[in-house]
This record gives sequence, C-alpha cells and structure tokens, in this order.
Amino acid sequence: MSAISQETTDINLLELHPADRTVLPSFSAGSHIDLHLRDGLVRSYSLINSSSETHRYVIGVKKEQNSRGGSRYIHEELRSGDEITIDAPRNTFALNEEASSSILIAGGIGITPLISMAQRLEELGKPWQLHYAAHSSPTSFVSQLARFGSKVRFYFPTEFQREPCSTRIDIDSIVANACREAHIYCCGPERMLTAFTAATAERSHVHGHIEHFANALGVDKEGEFEVVLAKSGRTIAVHSGKSILDTLLELGMDAPYSCMEGVCSSCETRVLSGIPDHRDLILSSEEHAANDRMMICCSRSKSPTLVLEL
Ligand code: FES
Repeated sequence: MSAISQETTDINLLELHPADRTVLPSFSAGSHIDLHLRDGLVRSYSLINSSSETHRYVIGVKKEQNSRGGSRYIHEELRSGDEITIDAPRNTFALNEEASSSILIAGGIGITPLISMAQRLEELGKPWQLHYAAHSSPTSFVSQLARFGSKVRFYFPTEFQREPCSTRIDIDSIVANACREAHIYCCGPERMLTAFTAATAERSHVHGHIEHFANALGVDKEGEFEVVLAKSGRTIAVHSGKSILDTLLELGMDAPYSCMEGVCSSCETRVLSGIPDHRDLILSSEEHAANDRMMICCSRSKSPTLVLEL
C-alpha cells in the first residue's frame, strides 16, 4: 500500500506499508528495494527512512527527463493507496558501522541512501558529517537533515549567489583532509562520482564507497560465447548485441533484473566455471577477480563457455 507526497516539482516521496499490516523485512542503511511497476518494469530505489523501522519503507523518486518508464510511471500514474509489489531490501552500498568516523557526500537525488546512513550513524553515536549539493533545496530532505545541525553542510544556490560553482562541494579537499580511519561515501551525478573516484585513487589510505545510479560507460554487447545453465544442463548461445539476460528473456526464461546496466545487482548470478568479463559498477576489483558471481545484464565472458547457477 503506498502513500505519495510531492517533495519538489520533480521528486515524489513514496511511503510503502505492507498491505496485510504485517512487519516488513528489516534492512540496513544504504539498502534499496526493487519496485515491480507494470509490464515487467522493475526499478530500484534507495530506502530513506531509519533502518530501525519495520512498519514502512520510504523512497524518493526523481522524475527523470530521459525516463525509461519507471520514474514517469511513478509520477504520472501511481496514486496513493495503489498496491505495488516489491522485493525484499538488498544492500550494495553498505555502511561500515565499525568505522571510527564517516563522511557522506551527496549530489541531487543521490542524497537518498545517505539520509538513512546519517540516521544510522546518529543512532550509533558515531562521528559523521554530510555534504549535500543540489540545484535547489528539496524541502523535506532538508528538514529531515536540519535536525543534525552542523553535521550537515548544504550547498544550494540562492538568489544571492551568481556563481553556480559556489555551490560545489570541494571533494578533493574533503578526501585529502579525511583521517586515515574515516570511511567516505559518495552518491550523486556522474560528474561528482568521477571527481570522487579521482580524489580517492591517489590516496591508498582512503576507504571510499560509491553508488552509481547509471552506467556512464554504457553496456558493450560485442562478442559471442556460450552459457551452460547448470540447473537444466541446457546450453544457450549469446550473440553480439545481446546480453545473457536478453537471451534468457527472449527464450522465455525467468530471471530477476531491474536496471539492465550493471548498477543495481538484481541480476547477480553465481558463476560455477568460466571467466566472466565484468562490466558492472557494483562489485569491487577483488570481487571481480574472484570470478564467482556476475551481473548477467551487462557482463560477458572471456572464456568460450560460462557455467552459471541458473
Ligand atoms: S539488472 Fe541491475 S545489475 Fe543487472
């Protein structure tokens, strides 16, 4: 059961309650849920509310100019009281609760997973700070964060600021000045993530964490290989221009997915043998090197054959 309120002209807040009034599965700060919207359309959104709540999930959905259908559906067709199917929360952007201090950096709608992290850090009594930049000030997000006082620094343009760059977060300086034990989290537009990646790359002591909303590299579907589906023993050919997931769906098989570009982990699949050619933005380089799981919406194969737990 959903309740919808408008955060800004292009951001809606959705509060989701279980239709049968039972308790929802618990989640950890930084988690997201998949919403099954219609006609097989599945989209992932970060949970904003406190991870100690079990009676509701709250998400913020920005209406994207280049919407592939998900955010447009939520803004234009979904109504308060409608029932929608969701999956249990998953976390690919987990908060390290043991860190002695944490720094959160957000741009635009990238603030959503960090709101839940800020609440969790506050509950734990850990030192933290948040830097939040946006083109305008989303009122409900600001009022939720304002209670944390000086721990939150806002970077919003005002009528008194003529220079847009005056609202930019100096990511390089924040990273350079972070203490060795700090964990730093960044979620926002691609330009911000690129700056964060560059700032952390040269500093091996930095514990950086990043969440992408989109795969700016695009999904390359060149190259042919075979996939053995271990559960049925069936072998399928994956041709150029198609992903493993595309091929499965075209053959009428069922497989979970959402973003189709390697940023949500919905399609994560165990690899039993073969060497994947990883193209996702979720797994770490160590996890890629382990070659024991892959995102079948975007990753391909370096070996002629992959055996997958499907
Ligand atoms: S569907 Fe999102 S990572 Fe594959």
